[in-house]
Amino acid sequence: MHPDPYDPELFRRHGHQVVEALATYLDSALAGQVPVLPLRAPLELAEQYQGALPLDAADDAEAEVARCLAQVIGQSIHLHHPGYMGHQLPAVLPVAALADLISSLLNNSAAIHEMAQAGTQIERQVIRWLCAAVGWSQDSDGVLTSGGSLGNLTALLAARNHATQGAAWRQGLRAGPPLALLVSDQAHYTVARTAGVLGLGQDAIVTIPTDSCFRLDVSALERLYRQTAQQGKKVVAIVGSAGTTATGSFDPLHEMGEFCREKNAWFHIDGSHGASALFSEKYRGLTEGIELASSLVWDMHKMLFTPSLITAVLFPHRQYSYDAFSQEASYLFARRPEEADFDLALRTLECTKRTMGIKLWLALRVHGAKAIGELVTKTFDLAREFATLLKAEPDFELAAEAASNILCFRHVPLEIGNSESETKRLDEHQLEVRQRVVASGKHFLVHTVLRNKVYLRTTLMNPRTTVEDLKGLIRAIREADRSADLQVSTGMPT
Ligand SMILES: Cc1ncc(COP(=O)(O)O)c(C=O)c1O
Repeated sequence: MHPDPYDPELFRRHGHQVVEALATYLDSALAGQVPVLPLRAPLELAEQYQGALPLDAADDAEAEVARCLAQVIGQSIHLHHPGYMGHQLPAVLPVAALADLISSLLNNSAAIHEMAQAGTQIERQVIRWLCAAVGWSQDSDGVLTSGGSLGNLTALLAARNHATQGAAWRQGLRAGPPLALLVSDQAHYTVARTAGVLGLGQDAIVTIPTDSCFRLDVSALERLYRQTAQQGKKVVAIVGSAGTTATGSFDPLHEMGEFCREKNAWFHIDGSHGASALFSEKYRGLTEGIELASSLVWDMHKMLFTPSLITAVLFPHRQYSYDAFSQEASYLFARRPEEADFDLALRTLECTKRTMGIKLWLALRVHGAKAIGELVTKTFDLAREFATLLKAEPDFELAAEAASNILCFRHVPLEIGNSESETKRLDEHQLEVRQRVVASGKHFLVHTVLRNKVYLRTTLMNPRTTVEDLKGLIRAIREADRSADLQVSTGMPT
């Protein structure tokens, strides 16, 4: 006999079973009792997924759920592990994950108000809260969307339509002068990708160099802006980063914002990573000038410890939030014009739109904004402490001081040295060391290329990581280096 898939009792049993198992998992992940990444080669793992999916119900549903859960957890990277220091995904707040379950079961769509009354109102409340944190007036507004990439696309689409007064939206790019986008050489790749998607083309990108701390160089911006204008191009936007991907650097937002005001240029800030510093009493100063943005993108699924995806696209003026997808259609969806703001599909690419605000909202209702701000502070502090540790060691060098919670560095063993002629060897060394450290299962870090050199990169996304864990990483890198010597001397493959 098939169980009724909608049986509430079955859901209750499975729900208890899943939450119980996840809580046990969380306990061991936080204590570092699982390998941070049980690494398997994709092709080897793929063999397990070749079979057809079942036609018939499982004989024992609970045993099947338990097996599935163990399989998924066992083949996942563990972001709650204190040794997780890799890409920009946080150890999420567990209560926010439960909110995702609520959203999933209700399956409301925050595209139009009647399809998600609570979901829409919560999203509007979250947007107002974020705008207030930026320091914007009641006129500010925005929308939640699915990720920073889509956020940048949405904001820059608004910028393009604004710059062309809607002509690009209506007639495409054949009307008007060639367009340009001024972007630092450290901007996230989605900004360049957006230039392609928006039809500006990659040639529209004017790359602005950065200083030794990977912050946009304002004098170069001024020079290149002048050049661009002299070439008869219209600037769609000047893009700043509040937390670059590679090094977590904050561009000089205040100076950039002033420059944009003077030139009447759209100032887009990609704050996907670092805008959350606004909630840290200690580090809020890093975002100075963020309020000068014409558009701001901010991922909650990075530094507000919320499960992915949840990204805010914010504007200081409500009307800008309608510029991306239409110039005049703000009253199409709602019968009453005063209700138009509640039909969020007018402002996002999504049609069916997840009620994603609920997860942050529940976390705030339970823990409060102060506690979440303290988590931001904790991870930024950790990066500074790590930088201090590394600077005290003769065989490590930093790419730059820690600006946020991202730190890039190189291991420079004395026998390789740091001369120009050793650059390639040193690059390979970083990659090899990283591979060995990751394979050990105690730490997970990544690498990046900065100015043609390979660096190890840590992003401290887990507030439960401690200075001891960071000392452990330093030891692990040195051990990985020694094991390389051993393997070379015994002729083993590396
Ligand atoms: C600065 C920056 N912008 C945009 C993105 C893209 O965001 P998402 O991964 O949410 O699409 C990232 C992702 O790491 C980022 O670091």
